Amino acid sequence: MTIQEYLDEAEALERELGERLATIDPATRIDAVKGQLRDWRARLDQLQKSITTVSPDGRREAGIALNRVRRGFDDAMAERESAGAGRLAQAAVDLTMPARARWQGGRHPVTLVIREIQEMFRELGFTVALGPEAETEWYNFGSLNFPSDHPAMDAHDTLYLGPGSLLRTHTSPVQVRTMQRWAPPIRILAPGNVYRRDFFDPSHAPMFSQIEGLSVDEGVSFVDLKATLTHFGRRFFGAARTRFRPSFFPFTEPSAEMDAQCGVCGGAGCPTCKGTGWIEILGSGMVHPAVLEAAGIDSERYTGWAFGMGPGRIAMSRYGIPDIRLLYDSDVRFLEQIAR
Ligand code: PHE
Repeated sequence: MTIQEYLDEAEALERELGERLATIDPATRIDAVKGQLRDWRARLDQLQKSITTVSPDGRREAGIALNRVRRGFDDAMAERESAGAGRLAQAAVDLTMPARARWQGGRHPVTLVIREIQEMFRELGFTVALGPEAETEWYNFGSLNFPSDHPAMDAHDTLYLGPGSLLRTHTSPVQVRTMQRWAPPIRILAPGNVYRRDFFDPSHAPMFSQIEGLSVDEGVSFVDLKATLTHFGRRFFGAARTRFRPSFFPFTEPSAEMDAQCGVCGGAGCPTCKGTGWIEILGSGMVHPAVLEAAGIDSERYTGWAFGMGPGRIAMSRYGIPDIRLLYDSDVRFLEQIAR
């Protein structure tokens, strides 16, 4: 080979490399690129071997040309390789990363308790009735046999919205609204929010929820009250025993508070029951004849019993919640531990 032929071939190889690389997709993997250039590599190797056929005084120049072609190839490959690695790094997906949890809503602890109680009473034939939170003084107090200025109203101080209208302090007005609307037999459960002039502290809230129950029919007696509420106490609290303590409400006579034996300690005394072995569950009593009459029901023919309880308090004892404000702070980190 003459030196000129050698230099021409080197130049041809260089040009061809540039042309062919320009037609290969930059996303092609480096070993595939090298594969496509195998024939070109064979010609480069051939050129290297042919150097011995060049006359000795041209070999130095031939060697320089050969090295230039080879370095051109190596540089081009290195450049493609690092560009490819950059793309890979950018698209990197770490398959070992834990998946992001999908946000799912859940029911509030108080809602869970209300639903469960509703379900138990539904099986006993109770339907759900609702009443307004903005109530009249008459439904909240007058119809329920609170004499004006009676001290029992002290515990029921609330926000007045205008003359004769207020935020209801209990769900008992729903008793009267229901009896006005439907004739006995009546068996209803009335869940809802109520308002009182209480500070937010660990055991009080100015707004909380109650569940009212009412049963009115001919021949209904305290036996029905006691049997039904005892059944409920056993089912809901798993309590072996319940106890009734005499109490007073203007709208029931006689009145009783029901306690359930603490399901956590079995009555031995623990923090949940504040060491007493019992948990206060509800207020109850036989519907006062004056209330039946106020609602337009013949109190000579019909009798009834009623109860009211606080699902918030019940949720606190059930889930071991030490502060009622946790129920109303809407802090998802807390609520999601209970929500279902
Ligand atoms: N309304 C009463 C209260 O809020 C509870 C109650 C309801 C008591 C029904 C007896 C009968 O304290």
